[in-house]
Amino acid sequence: MPGADNGNPLLDGLRIEPTPARTVLVIFGASGDLTRRKLLPAVYQLSRGQRLPARFTVIGVARSAMTDDEFRHQLHDSLKEFAGVAPPDDVSAALARELFYVQGEMDDPALYQRLAAKVKEIGAIEAGLLFYLAIPPAVSGTVVGQLGAANFTKSGEGGGWRRVIVEKPFGTDLASARSLNQLLHTHLDESQIFRIDHYLGKETVQNLLVFRFANGMFEPVWNRRYIDHVQITAAETVGVERRASYYEGAGALRDMVQNHLMQVLALVAMEPPSAFSAENVRDRKLDVLVSMHPLVTESGAADHVVRAQYGAGWVNGAEVPGYRAEDGVSSASTTETYVAMRMFLDSWRWAGIPFYLRTGKRLPKRTTEIAIQFRRPPLHIFKRVSPTPIASNLLIVNVQPDEGISVRFEAKLPGTRMQLAPVMMNFRYGSAFGVPVPEAYETLLLDAMLGDPTLFARHDFVEASWNLITPVHEAWRGSGVAPIPSYEAGEWGPREADAMMAADGRRWRTL
Ligand code: BG6
Repeated sequence: MPGADNGNPLLDGLRIEPTPARTVLVIFGASGDLTRRKLLPAVYQLSRGQRLPARFTVIGVARSAMTDDEFRHQLHDSLKEFAGVAPPDDVSAALARELFYVQGEMDDPALYQRLAAKVKEIGAIEAGLLFYLAIPPAVSGTVVGQLGAANFTKSGEGGGWRRVIVEKPFGTDLASARSLNQLLHTHLDESQIFRIDHYLGKETVQNLLVFRFANGMFEPVWNRRYIDHVQITAAETVGVERRASYYEGAGALRDMVQNHLMQVLALVAMEPPSAFSAENVRDRKLDVLVSMHPLVTESGAADHVVRAQYGAGWVNGAEVPGYRAEDGVSSASTTETYVAMRMFLDSWRWAGIPFYLRTGKRLPKRTTEIAIQFRRPPLHIFKRVSPTPIASNLLIVNVQPDEGISVRFEAKLPGTRMQLAPVMMNFRYGSAFGVPVPEAYETLLLDAMLGDPTLFARHDFVEASWNLITPVHEAWRGSGVAPIPSYEAGEWGPREADAMMAADGRRWRTL
């Protein structure tokens, strides 16, 4: 039993979890970055933790020519670089023996025949097949169509399940997301579709549900009577890196807000589900998005959204170029690398309470947090003895990197005088449980193998999110040549974002 041997009582509740049956993971986009950085390391960690079925196979599919052996080398390289496994150990060697590669063009029916032959050859006719689409959205449609035509979307001869994980971005606007959903539904039942958003696999994001709904003391104050506003920040120090070809057409609103931040916001704002089941949880999350005020006014102005792009500056002690000077970026690019927004919900719980979201690249610090700012107490009875205004209570969920939850409250400073000072009460995952926090992709891959879609985006959530975001893109396009504000790399975003807060009599938290 976990926990029994190291005497940490907080581990007593951790259970041994179910292991999926024989599975073949077929990765489309096997030569890409996501496979190397995330998927192969996640598979390795799951295998190390004995969470994979006794027989587990990976078939990589991509356009580049590669032999099985070359793909196995890619596994070792990826584990060396992203999981610190060098030289190969028993686990990676065993994994490598179950790695195969099939090459081809995604729109070529012959590729799918070769894939079927490979499944047969490795004796996996009865296995569950999990197709991971680590490819751009336009290609995802093609692959699903071909999988359907090749009979890969129906249970196989041996009755094995068939599921598809679709990577983000899920479409580029409402219309494209809708048509991708329609296409998926032509070949697959919704229960076979797993739209991945890796934020949902983060331990702290999942813990939001537990924190809110498995405790009696937080939920009663989780509403407009006690909360002044909520700030959600996802700050990164990295720039566009080698992803300009994707990022130029995406920008921060599509890349981070439409998916990750909307998911986090929904978990913070949702009503309690009646049970922790996929449909209950996802129904309540959807309610949040459909009750959101539009971000664009009737006159067509995106008044609640600030966008900006980073200029040259300094981050982590190094001088870095501005966005327009990055490789692959147009010198006239108007792609936003920063977004801040103010959102309101038409709900009994949240009427009138703003949710502020911000995300950006090349900010001073990598941190993702949710800050719940409570109202001040109605009376300052210590005014005479401690005249400085008291800080309002704050609850911070540290999503990363220092995973945990903190509460700020006022305390008496030690001494003979009655003086007040804010203090923090901290819960840290690392020290409380003493076990490493799994990577999001590990949790999500395993859930997909087990057929549990709770932590995946449902079709209607994705569309509701695009329904909010697409008008903002249209408003920006309509703004013609209006220059995009900028911020210096290493600064906390543009002054326009501070002005938006100041107009509400509030400030962004200093992180
Ligand atoms: C990805 C975005 O989905 O999330 C990246 O495409 C971003 O641009 C990344 O850097 C952030 O993820 P994390 O887990 O590092 O917060």
